[in-house]
Amino acid sequence: MKNTLTAVLGLNWGDEGKGKLVDILAGKMQFVARFGGGANAGHTIVVDGQKVVLHQLPSGVLHPQTKNVIGNGCVVHLPTLIEEMEELEKLGVKLTNRLFVSDRATILFDFHKELDGLAENKLGDKKIGTTKRGIGPAYSDRVNRKSIRLGDLANPEKFAEKLRARLEEVNALEGMPFKFDVERELTLYVDLAERLEGMIADTSEILQAAIADGKTVLAEGAQGSMLDVDFGTFPFVTSSTTTAGNIFSGLGIAPQNLESIGVAKAYTTRVGAGPFPTELDNELGEKIRQTGAEFGATTGRPRRCGWMDLVATRFAARLNGTTAINLTKLDVLNELEEIQVCTKYLLDGEEISGPPATVEDYKKIEPVFETLPGWQADTSAARKISDLPKNAQDYIKFIEKYLGVPVKWVGVGVEREAMAV
Ligand code: GDP
Ligand code: IMO
Ligand code: MG
Repeated sequence: MKNTLTAVLGLNWGDEGKGKLVDILAGKMQFVARFGGGANAGHTIVVDGQKVVLHQLPSGVLHPQTKNVIGNGCVVHLPTLIEEMEELEKLGVKLTNRLFVSDRATILFDFHKELDGLAENKLGDKKIGTTKRGIGPAYSDRVNRKSIRLGDLANPEKFAEKLRARLEEVNALEGMPFKFDVERELTLYVDLAERLEGMIADTSEILQAAIADGKTVLAEGAQGSMLDVDFGTFPFVTSSTTTAGNIFSGLGIAPQNLESIGVAKAYTTRVGAGPFPTELDNELGEKIRQTGAEFGATTGRPRRCGWMDLVATRFAARLNGTTAINLTKLDVLNELEEIQVCTKYLLDGEEISGPPATVEDYKKIEPVFETLPGWQADTSAARKISDLPKNAQDYIKFIEKYLGVPVKWVGVGVEREAMAV
């Protein structure tokens, strides 16, 4: 059976280069849909030297014929969404009749951001290093059944009642440095609702109908599998399920055949605190950071850099049912004489089959590396994997063999065209 559903999922700690691949594939897709996360994501697309960073919008927006969906599994900060839409309009991108936001998606308010910041400050040196975009508090409200959802905007009176009640609760919280002005917030949301006119919809029904009709849908992952609230380096994770299972509940579609594309860098990065077994906290890590321009697309923070972690990547590939891999940023390693890859984790001297469940065990892990020769050649012009230097091809084969999954795309630069296939 032909798959109509394809997913692009990060296999590590986010920022693997998902946005670029989604943009490339979106040209042939009828729908691109985000199923989780919020404006903590930062997905970069570079077309003809023009850089676009999307936080809230799906990365299919640059293709005029592609429809875009923000699913029920997302938390949506409406001012950010509108700002992004306006930025795109300035570039000539029109979104009318091609952007749909789920009426069941959670609205992320400014008070969620404030609560995120306060929670981080309270944690002191144990802080998670969140993006401070309010993600944890917004998802907490959702599972606590306190959320106000996009669909509530259709009934202004009820919306006002719900927001007023929630803000009164928030304003009464201990440690709140100021009080949110309820009337000001209400006025703002009346305006925001008007600007989303015609876009708030039952996106589950839209996608179900599209799939029944044989239309192609691309589910765009945000964050990475190692930031998954259950399977990541808990508690140094985001607050949503970032792995494949959430595609179905986060979009409101039935489980079905999935072409599950995993994205991993040719090395590894993570932003924020938490376990990172292959981290290079040294000069080489700094060199990779500079060469790869590893500074966060959302917060501008320097990303921590390290060698490729095949143990974590295999764990993620299994969780996601990965059927093909996009290895990104191979070009960043062009100058290195030797490259290491982590192939085993030892815990108390014994090999373990995958990442541990606790942060305490993560602290005790000893990663085991294999060393491969570098290729020390420019790869930026390669458009076919067979055009790459032999040592680069051998590096790719090593990864394929370890993971048991073919590498079908290799990123060799930031531009849309810079992909060897
Ligand atoms: P995402 O969150 O997974 O979409 O990734 P980000 O956009 O946050 O970070 C990836 C960064 O790497 C962006 O700045 C991209 O422009 C850049 N990038 C993506 N693929 C490649 C590649 O193959 N080579 C190089 N040099 N940069 C890339
Ligand atoms: P994309 O989609 C990289 C990280 C944060 C922090 C942790 C929790 O661009 O790959 P949160 O704000 O979600 O509560 O922060 O998760 N994080 C990301 N790191 N890329 C992302 O998204 C991320 N989204 C969240 O840095 O460590
Ligand atoms: Mg990113």
